[in-house]
Amino acid sequence: MTAFPTLAECRRRDDLDPLRALRALFDLPAGVTYLDGNSLGALPRAAPARLAAAVTAEWGQGLIRSWNSAGWFDLPQRVGDKIGRLVGAGAGEVVAVDGTSINLYKVLHAALDIAAADAPAQRRVVSERSNFPTDLYIAEGLCRARGLTLQLVDADELPGALDDGVAVLLLTHVNYRTGAMHDMAALTRAAHARGTLVIWDLAHSAGAVPVDLRGADADFAVGCGYKYLNGGPGAPAFVWVHPRHADRFWQPLSGWWGHAAPFAFMPDYRPAAGIARYQCGTQPILSLTALDVGVDTVLAADALGGMAALRRKSLALTDLFIAGVRARLAGHGFEIVTPEPHAQRGSQVSIARAEGAYAIVQALIARGVIGDFRAGVPADGARPAVPDILRFGFTPLYLGHADVWHAVDALAQVMTTGEWRDARFAQRQEVT
Ligand SMILES: Cc1ncc(COP(=O)(O)O)c(C=O)c1O
Repeated sequence: MTAFPTLAECRRRDDLDPLRALRALFDLPAGVTYLDGNSLGALPRAAPARLAAAVTAEWGQGLIRSWNSAGWFDLPQRVGDKIGRLVGAGAGEVVAVDGTSINLYKVLHAALDIAAADAPAQRRVVSERSNFPTDLYIAEGLCRARGLTLQLVDADELPGALDDGVAVLLLTHVNYRTGAMHDMAALTRAAHARGTLVIWDLAHSAGAVPVDLRGADADFAVGCGYKYLNGGPGAPAFVWVHPRHADRFWQPLSGWWGHAAPFAFMPDYRPAAGIARYQCGTQPILSLTALDVGVDTVLAADALGGMAALRRKSLALTDLFIAGVRARLAGHGFEIVTPEPHAQRGSQVSIARAEGAYAIVQALIARGVIGDFRAGVPADGARPAVPDILRFGFTPLYLGHADVWHAVDALAQVMTTGEWRDARFAQRQEVT
């Protein structure tokens, strides 16, 4: 049996945790162990006052003047620069704007324009079958519109799929379902060797694991603001384009905010230089303000070791959870689907179960341990079914070892009492 420490030992580890003070940056409800920051980050304690000031002072008193006086107009770039520091982008290379799906549309469209110009015979887009569906739907739509082929493969088939016919490789760095993490540098290198451009979706990476876009020589990236960046529900997303590509083509949503001189009100479109052209129209300033506060919570770790320290703690927490599942839930039908090797693991742990996964998550939530459920995919003849999973995100900014201990303990109790079989836990809600 794998050793799982006592609660006292977990508390001792929390006492020694150099990042411990960061938890005070968040307003978490009492009695809740929050393991869903990979879906919606927790509320930063500074957000309500900052938003109140944005509403009452900037909007209420400043009115239209605040576009200049409160710096509303360049907020997408300023927040983008902060996010850029977390993902290995240079200054002026990231904008916080629109949503992840929309940004994905822009960068895939631009990448396909570049590929059509540089390598017109390369007419496939390759992605992973288990990629987040919005990525696949956007790619499917663009491939249909442009007469290209979308090829979906399993992760272990990726090296074989990267032949001379691939225009774009579109991958999510950390898999939303399993928490498996790709080797960004190695895959980007393999794709580039075939003249293939690479787009990385960093939804489950930004603020969660160290990312080095420039170091990996990636081409494009997008990511979410509402997960590990703690930007609030529906927060703006971000987009990065390597400077070697940024000015080559228009992005397809050529709105006025991406114009070189929006307030010249010219009838013709002239794209701004660099990443600024990846904006489209007027941005949600209140949401960007909340995102700014959220990103600051991650940057607050800089003084304590930054992303490297966050990563060390994240791995300690996911290791602990895995050990707890092994030690206390053996015989209950769970399979850990998140990879064991650290280099292949994001900041979440997913466990599969053939029966009752949804109800077990609901029973855990009733005990104050919040994770989530992701439905499996039925077998399709050639391929076996993908199982239902229970998904647990570990945000090292606000979670400690004792939280992990309590989560494992609650799961053990849900299973040993059989309380998850209560009919009320089987009622499927719209958002799972
Ligand atoms: C990998 C990935 N991409 C994109 C999204 C969501 O995109 P959007 O913010 O446009 O809904 C998610 C949401 O969970 C995701 O996991």
